Order: sequence, then C-alpha cells, then structure tokens
Amino acid sequence: MAKILVLGANGQLGSDLMKIFVNTTHEVCGLTQMDLDAASVDAASQLANYTGYDYVINCIATTNVDGCEDNPDLAFVLNSAFVVKLAKFCQEQQSILIQISTDYVLDGTTDKPILETAKPNPLNVYGLSKYAGEIAVNSNCNKYFILRVASLFGIAGAAGKGGNFINTMLRLANEKDSWQVIDDQFSSPTHTLDVAQAICSLIDDKITDFGIYNCVSSTGCSWYEFTREILSLSGLNPDKVKRVSYKDYQFKAKRPQYTILDNSKLAKYHVMPDYKQALEEYLKLKQMINKNERTNA
Ligand SMILES: NC(=O)c1ccc[n+]([C@@H]2O[C@H](COP(=O)([O-])OP(=O)(O)OC[C@H]3O[C@@H](n4cnc5c(N)ncnc54)[C@H](OP(=O)(O)O)[C@@H]3O)[C@@H](O)[C@H]2O)c1
Repeated sequence: MAKILVLGANGQLGSDLMKIFVNTTHEVCGLTQMDLDAASVDAASQLANYTGYDYVINCIATTNVDGCEDNPDLAFVLNSAFVVKLAKFCQEQQSILIQISTDYVLDGTTDKPILETAKPNPLNVYGLSKYAGEIAVNSNCNKYFILRVASLFGIAGAAGKGGNFINTMLRLANEKDSWQVIDDQFSSPTHTLDVAQAICSLIDDKITDFGIYNCVSSTGCSWYEFTREILSLSGLNPDKVKRVSYKDYQFKAKRPQYTILDNSKLAKYHVMPDYKQALEEYLKLKQMINKNERTNA
C-alpha cells in the first residue's frame, strides 16, 4: 500500500485518478485549488501541510494552448515555477514525483512515432512552460516519472479548455450539416482513464526505472480521422465532416503538426490500448453515465 497525493484532483485526469485509486488499497489524498493554490507566492509553505507521501502526482496545469499566448505569466507560474517548488518538496520528502507533461514540448517536424529521446523544441508558450516544468523536475529531484500525455479526453472534460474535443464534435454533429476538421495535424488521442491506469500500474508494481515516458494510446491519427471515428462509433454520419489543412486554419498559438508518440518504453510496464479502443471505451462510459443521469432524473 502506498500513500499518494494527487494535485489537481478535480481536473479531467485528476478525477479519473481518484476514481481508479478508490478501488485499490492505496491511501489517497486529492487536493483541489481550494486546498492548495499553486499560483500563490506561498505555494511552497502550503505544500508543507502535506508531508509523508510516497508519491505526489501533479495534474495541475493551465492547459488552454491559445490562452497561454495571452497570459504567459500564468502559464509559467503554474506549469514551471510551481513545479520547481514541488520538485524541491518531493526531493526533501523523498517522495516519488509523477509530473504530467505534454507532446507539445516537441516541434512535430517528423513523420514517425516519436521517442522520449527526441530533443524538445516547443513552438508555443504552453509547450515552453511545460518543457520548463520538465527541466524543473529533472534538475531538482531524483525520483520522478515525467509522463508525456497528449490530446486527452476524459469524462470530466478539461476544466482549462471548457470540455473536450469529442464533446465538441458530437455537439457540432447535432447542430450542423457539415463542418471542417484538420487532416494534416497528427497526435495520439488518449483517454485519461488509461493514463490513470498506467500510473496505477507504475505504483502497484513499484517501478523505479525513473525518467520520461510517453504515456499515450498506442496509435495515432489526424483530427479529421479521429472525428470520423467519433461519429461512426456514435452512430452518426462520418461524411458530415470535411477535411481542412492546418495551413488554412487560424490559431493564435502555433502547433506541432506531427506528435504521434512511440509508447514502447512504457509498454514494458503497462500496455496502452490503441486510440480506437480507447475512444470506444470512453463513449461506452459516457453513454452509461448519461443513461444513469436520465434514469435518476
Ligand atoms: N487536456 C489535454 O488535452 C492535455 C494534453 C497534453 C497534456 N496535458 C497535461 O495533462 C495534465 C492534466 O490535464 P487535464 O486535461 O486534466 O487538465 P484540467 O482538467 O484543466 O485540469 C487542470 C487542473 O489544474 C488545477 N489548477 C488550475 N489552476 C490551479 C491553481 N492555481 N492551483 C491549484 N490547482 C490549479 C485545476 O484545479 P481546479 O479544478 O480545482 O480548479 C484542475 O484540476 C496537465 O499537466 C496538462 O498540461 C493535457
């Protein structure tokens, strides 16, 4: 049994972690922003209230990629400076830090699944602030896992983004006859429940092979292909969605075009499903929850 502290326990990933740990023998404490304000100047002294944990899992972040271009101060305070404090705290406590990072630390100038050894080269403020978070971990504590996740979808929806991509596509399918989705930007869409299960395996199996891991679905696709799959699996017409090129789409923040990650390093300890299986599982869960909500209403 391990003592585990989850930071950002209300978020999309944090809430799935809390769900997974409830069914284990681990002792878990989940903190929200009400318990610990990571943006506060005294975040380090707030952390000092939570000593004696074997693992600290950091799901706190500001995740709105375009929003980070408008508010780089907040991005660097939450995604980098707080992580310096947290990594020092974990080093003092000899806790294992599990820091959640992102595929957006990469520049995406490749066309093959990317290994953990690829050199980061972030293209936007969000990616740069998360890369600074990785450096903060690596330079301030010894026992850590940096898990690079990507294109997350979970039942809670990303607080920072006001939902998730799947919900947006299902809403558009109800509202429109057709709409456009990018067909030349590729990533590894990943269910937060699968990330939570991977973290649980690392803890259950007491893995000490510390370092950076790609923690994503075992396959990837373009946003257009992902949308077709979402619509098909939901019994909707996939032909409603039309292709558009990344070049013709207006974003505030520049995005990497290819960040399908190679997860074979993680697969030694935990096998992730492919993105289609992950999506199917998510849609089943979502339907079950919607059905229960209707029944309970
Ligand atoms: N979403 C994606 O597609 C994606 C892609 C790649 C990587 N990631 C990474 O995955 C991790 C989890 O993302 P997510 O999708 O679960 O994000 P999320 O739902 O937006 O969760 C972010 C969490 O940060 C917490 N938070 C924000 N400001 C805070 C503050 N000042 N003090 C304390 N807590 C604060 C929020 O707490 P409250 O709920 O209490 O406000 C929330 O629980 C992040 O590290 C993110 O960078 C996400």
